[in-house]
Amino acid sequence: MRQKNFQEALQDPIFKTLTKASKELEVDCYVIGGFVRDYILQRDNAKDIDVVVVGSGIQLAQKVASLLNNQPKVSVFKNFGTAMLKHKDIELEFVGARKESYHRDSRKPIVENGSLEDDQNRRDFTINALALSLNSNNFGDLIDPFEGVNDLEKKIIRTPLEPAITFSDDPLRMMRAIRFAAQLDFMIASPSLKAIADNKERLKIISKERIVGELHKILASDKPSVGLALLHKTELLPYILPELVALQGIEEIEGQRHKDNFWHTLEVVDNISKTTDNLWLRWAALLHDIGKAPTKKFHKKLGWTFHGHEFVGSKMVYKLFKRLKMPLNDKMKFVQKMVLMSSRPIVLSEDFATDSAVRRLIFDAGDYVDDLMTLCEADITTKNSKKQKKYKNNFKIVRQKILEVEERDHIRNFQPPVSGEEIMQTFNLQPSKEIGMIKEAIKEAILEGEIPNEYEAAKTLMLQKGKELGLKSR
Ligand code: CTP
Repeated sequence: MRQKNFQEALQDPIFKTLTKASKELEVDCYVIGGFVRDYILQRDNAKDIDVVVVGSGIQLAQKVASLLNNQPKVSVFKNFGTAMLKHKDIELEFVGARKESYHRDSRKPIVENGSLEDDQNRRDFTINALALSLNSNNFGDLIDPFEGVNDLEKKIIRTPLEPAITFSDDPLRMMRAIRFAAQLDFMIASPSLKAIADNKERLKIISKERIVGELHKILASDKPSVGLALLHKTELLPYILPELVALQGIEEIEGQRHKDNFWHTLEVVDNISKTTDNLWLRWAALLHDIGKAPTKKFHKKLGWTFHGHEFVGSKMVYKLFKRLKMPLNDKMKFVQKMVLMSSRPIVLSEDFATDSAVRRLIFDAGDYVDDLMTLCEADITTKNSKKQKKYKNNFKIVRQKILEVEERDHIRNFQPPVSGEEIMQTFNLQPSKEIGMIKEAIKEAILEGEIPNEYEAAKTLMLQKGKELGLKSR
């Protein structure tokens, strides 16, 4: 076992309070898990501190709270033998050392008390089983029974016990392994990787919320394809996102091939992750092509087509979010909108973008027009550098045009320059379909560039349309 002292990690006065409290209760306690791992990796994660106590986690939490000036509230989770308190911007989580597996999200109540070693044995990965002593006789000593520091140096994710045991204790750990590999840019040791593939079916028993939590973290990583490819390789992905798996593969008929839309999608997600941290935009990149599997057809003349895949894909987004118990709120609607509109700027950039086409794009995308452009730029994955350059340049032109047109015509968040109210008053109308027709005609004329987006011009058109409809103005 490697011994080293990490007192310098424990400079916050809270640690001395923990020492004092544990001394008074005559129990040993340690900081464990993410705090220690991230300190050694020099990652910023000093605000979440997990404390393991050889004794009662709840009692220690209460003792610590009583020693702090502001006496923070202790949240107790009796069933799990855990407690939590917040002090300044630090969140402290206390747990009694256990013989059984530790996972606070489990519904199963715990469990037999154990030693520190028992507790470390039942943690997920060697790099998460590192503990620092808070006891006064060896304050700051690292307790690293599984060579976790070595694994940190070698960038390896490995389970402390037989991987099958660790993963069956909590199958979510299969996803956690992949998430850490993605977040930290680590490799998963091959026995652990094999065990994930062997136990993939066990993911079924894990709640959707926990799965999505890990998926979010994979998507939020610098290069999400690392995690997504591992989910694919271990065959966990069919249990999570079968819609993506369905995109994998290349078919060839009469010498015509289409691209592999699964690997293309992963590239798009990586591309977009270089330009945005917006998780939902990353989701949109992940799902932008899902409608391609159900719409794929081969035509003798046209070759491969995916007709209407954007519309079909946007419908699939709803079902997918629902199945994964994700919120069906404005975030979902945003992803749907991005998927639905995902080909629009491409069409514009291929051709000469007319003002009216740009106005329609701004009108339909509204506030999300920039996000849509970001998505479409990320969608350029051609390896042909000449084409790559051409497409990028075209998008630049479209972006510039969007700015110009918007500055002149104010189409974003379009408000009809003549209100329904005014139409009703002018022609002495009750609510009726004529009002909608006139409003539509004004909107169309503005988008087409026949009239400017201004009151006077719209009013003139209103009078003219009313006349055509046989209405009399007052
Ligand atoms: N843990 C575990 N098995 C799980 C979840 C957690 O063994 N399924 C243990 C690990 O020792 C982990 C610690 O509990 O380090 C705290 O878990 P958590 O807060 O979820 O993860 P962190 O390691 O702190 O990492 P992050 O903050 O990045 O999620």
